[in-house]
This record gives sequence, C-alpha cells and structure tokens, in this order.
Amino acid sequence: MNLLKKQTVVFAALSLALAQGAAAQTVQMSVQPGDAKLLISKDIQGQFAEHLGRCIYGGFWAEPGLNVPQQGRIRLDIVEALKKIHVPNLRWPGGCFADTYHWHDGVGPAAQRPKMLNLWWGNTLEDNSFGTHEFLELCDLLGTTPYLAANVGSGTVQEMSNWMEYLNSNEDTPMVLERRKNGHSEPYKVSWWGIGNESWGCGGNMTAEYYTNVYKRYATFAHDYPGTRLKRIVSGANGDDANWTETCMKNIPLNQMWGLTLHQYTLPTGSWSGSKGKATGFGEDMYFSTLRNCLKMDAVVTRHAAIMDKYDKDKKVALLVDEWGVWTDVEPGTNPGFLYQQNSLRDALVAGTTLNIFNNHCDRVKGANLAQAVNVLQALVLTDKEKMLLTPTYHVFDLYQVHQDAEYLPLQFTSPEYAFGGEKIPALNASASKDKSGAVHLSLVNLDPHKALTLETALPGVRFKTVTGRLLTSASVSDYNTFEKPNTIQPVAFNGAKKRGEKLAITLPAKSVVVLELK
Ligand code: AHR
Repeated sequence: MNLLKKQTVVFAALSLALAQGAAAQTVQMSVQPGDAKLLISKDIQGQFAEHLGRCIYGGFWAEPGLNVPQQGRIRLDIVEALKKIHVPNLRWPGGCFADTYHWHDGVGPAAQRPKMLNLWWGNTLEDNSFGTHEFLELCDLLGTTPYLAANVGSGTVQEMSNWMEYLNSNEDTPMVLERRKNGHSEPYKVSWWGIGNESWGCGGNMTAEYYTNVYKRYATFAHDYPGTRLKRIVSGANGDDANWTETCMKNIPLNQMWGLTLHQYTLPTGSWSGSKGKATGFGEDMYFSTLRNCLKMDAVVTRHAAIMDKYDKDKKVALLVDEWGVWTDVEPGTNPGFLYQQNSLRDALVAGTTLNIFNNHCDRVKGANLAQAVNVLQALVLTDKEKMLLTPTYHVFDLYQVHQDAEYLPLQFTSPEYAFGGEKIPALNASASKDKSGAVHLSLVNLDPHKALTLETALPGVRFKTVTGRLLTSASVSDYNTFEKPNTIQPVAFNGAKKRGEKLAITLPAKSVVVLELK
C-alpha cells in the first residue's frame, strides 16, 4: 500500500480572506498510529564521498602540512562533526569516478601506488593516497557502514570479485595474504556493494537491457564470505526513467538484488544545459522553482515504487536514492569540475522536505545518500584550509537524526499553498515517528517565505506531558554560513508548540524547519 495514500496531503485553495492578508486558517493535522514493523530506516540519512573536487583531497583527507587534528591524514574535526549526526552509511568512491577506479592501485605502501588522471572531475592527478584501507579507517572513526561502488564500466568481473575477497575472506588466498601484509589481519566484512553507477550514463552509456545482463554476470561473482552476506545493489534510473526500473525488475531475479538505486537531483533552473542557478544571491523566483523542483522527488519515488510493487509485492527489494540534493552553478572563481557550491537556508528547506518525502515512503525507500558530504554540491561541511563550517543542510540532518530506525507514524493534513508567479506548491510538509523510548518526533517544514502557519495537531493514542523543539530559520532564504560568520544559521530552541489538552498548538515560522519532541 502506498503510504502517501494514507497520508492525505491535499493542497487546498487558500481562502479569499487569506489571499487578502487576513489571519491564516489553522491547519488540522492528525498523527496516526503506526505499525511497529514499519521503521524509518536510518540509512535514509546516508552520505556520499566521491573522489571529486575537494571532497576527499582537501576535505576528509588533509593536504600535507595542514594544522588540524588528524589521524593519518584523516581530518578529525570533520569526523567529530559527522559523528554528532550519526551518519549511518557512507558511499565511496563515486559516482562517475567509481567506474574509472581500480581499487588495487589504492592499496599498499602509499609511495608505490600508481597515479591516475581523474578524467571526470577536473583532470586532476589522483595519487591514490586515499584508498580502500583509508576509507574503511574513516568509516570506522565515523562508526558508519561502508557502501562501496564497484567498477563495472571499465573494470572486470575478476577485479570486483578480488576486491570482495580482499576485504571479506579470511582464508590464506593471495588476496587475503596481501590484505594482511597491508596491515589488516581480520576481514573488513563490507556488505554494501553497488554494482556500477549511472550505467545509463558515465558508468558505460548502456541500455537497460544490456545493463541487466552485465549486472547478472557481475552479481554472480559477487560472493558471500563467512560472516558477510552481501547486499548487492543494482545501478538504477536517472530521475523518472521508468523503463530502466521496469527492465531491472523484470530481468534480474529478486534473489540477486538487495537494492535498486535512483538518482534525482534538484536544479534551481530545472535545466542541465546552461545555468543551473546560483547557490546564493538568488531571488524569490529561483527560490520557488528550486522548491517546486525538489518536490518532484515525491512523484518520482512514487512512480518507481509502483513499478517495483508489480514485481516485488512483499517489498523485499530496497529503493535507494543514493544521489540526491541541490545542484547549482559552482562558486564564482572555482574550478567548474570541482562542483563547489555554497549552501543556503533554501537548501536546508530542500533537505528537510526531501527527508520528509523519504520518511513517508519508508515502506520502499530504505536508503539514500546526499551528494556530497564535504565541499561538493549540497555539502554538510565546507572547508577552507584549516577552517571548517557546518552548512544549514548539516543542521537539518542533526535535527532529523531522531527519526533513525524509529517507527513510522503516518500523518493526515491539508496543506495551505504557497503561490508565486501564478504557480502554487504546498507550503507545509511533515513526517513523524516514535522512537524506542516511546518519544514521538514531528518534523515540519514551512516553505512559505512570508507567512507563518498555525497548526492544531491531534495525536490519538499518544500520551505526552511535554513538548520541546528545535528551529532552523534565518532572516532570508538566501542566507548562508561563511568562514567569517559560521553560525549565522544554526538550530535554536523552539517555543512555538504548546500542549492544549490532548492536542498540540503550533505556530510554524515562515521559511523554517522545526522538529518537535513529545514525551
Ligand atoms: O555527484 C556528482 C555526480 O553526479 C556523480 O559522480 C554522478 O554519479 C552523478 O551524475
């Protein structure tokens, strides 16, 4: 059953009185009882680290001589920040880079590792100093699950199979002996394996039919080892390409895939050619179109989930949106191949909205990865040599971590509209969950940059004594954190929710993300 059908989000016309500026009508919201078996997977809050621009080199992996706390060359200030938001999984090494990457070049003594050109991203010289062991050490420091993307586009079945054996076996094979010689005696037990990336594009420009045959061949040689059952993940569709998903679901036996991916980015202009739109200094037109484009995620996920339902009624195969986020023009003066962009309150609203969409599809969406963790696209963290800042998007993940592996609670409400330039989008989106201690969390996003919303929320069956909350907002939707003023946008205590009998009365500020805790 599509959860969105349960969650009646009807976009009602605003009353004439509201259009004329009179007091807004109160939104009636109801938090429905959940099903203890349906959880919001923590992996929806996964992150992505590609060898792209300054995500790894100059990001996670400090430039030589940088005066920051480090383990090896792993930046511990970034690690500390990401540990606080409990990153559940980290995808690596790409992206497009993955289908050019030969893992064996990135193990063994660093000085002896061959160099390569990073042909997708700025033609930089990749020295392979950050390889498999360094990535897994980073995951260990973060306490996160590694999610590897195997090279299908330009790598061989044998190469992928060797990587799995190198990491997961404990027998005295040449691969395992080499791993031990390289300093890791025990198997790493890596279970998440993407088999190719964007195989319809940078991963090999394959047709869906052709890819499914290739996938089956690779998956056949993706072996389980004692103690490590692989999660084999199919490289999925570009946006709303329904044929790709249909072909994968039809041609690949369900027991050969744990998950199927989907990539869906939000471009402010909506166009891949020409300008994608600015990251800062934009007007309400670009604000509106960004949010309108972001909301398409709901229809895209609904469409792919419906196709998956036809072939997998029991919802055994996970849908993983393993690349998503805002993609703008790069910051002026930066390398166009590095995809470095600033991150505004608008992007935080996109993050809150998208995570709400994923939560509300948690019966099928079992994982997702924001692109990307550091210095690339809609980053959580930006660095400038020793300096580091947390973006507004980081703070949304901080607020939303309460939903990780919590029981999903469906919502019913009718959203008011936010209108601009003759178009309308729903102003309000939300999701809710109950954690293991019984606390209920409600995440609310008001996209209207001008009007607060008032909500009356009923919670049949929920007993609570207190309500507390945190709020993320700013004076303008184009505000952002800078290295000089890193805390312009950060969460503050929210006092706009009051218990009124068994209900909640909430005043949700304009352009804000609020997460409430009911205990
Ligand atoms: O995240 C940046 C790029 O976007 C990835 O490398 C690729 O998979 C996608 O097209």
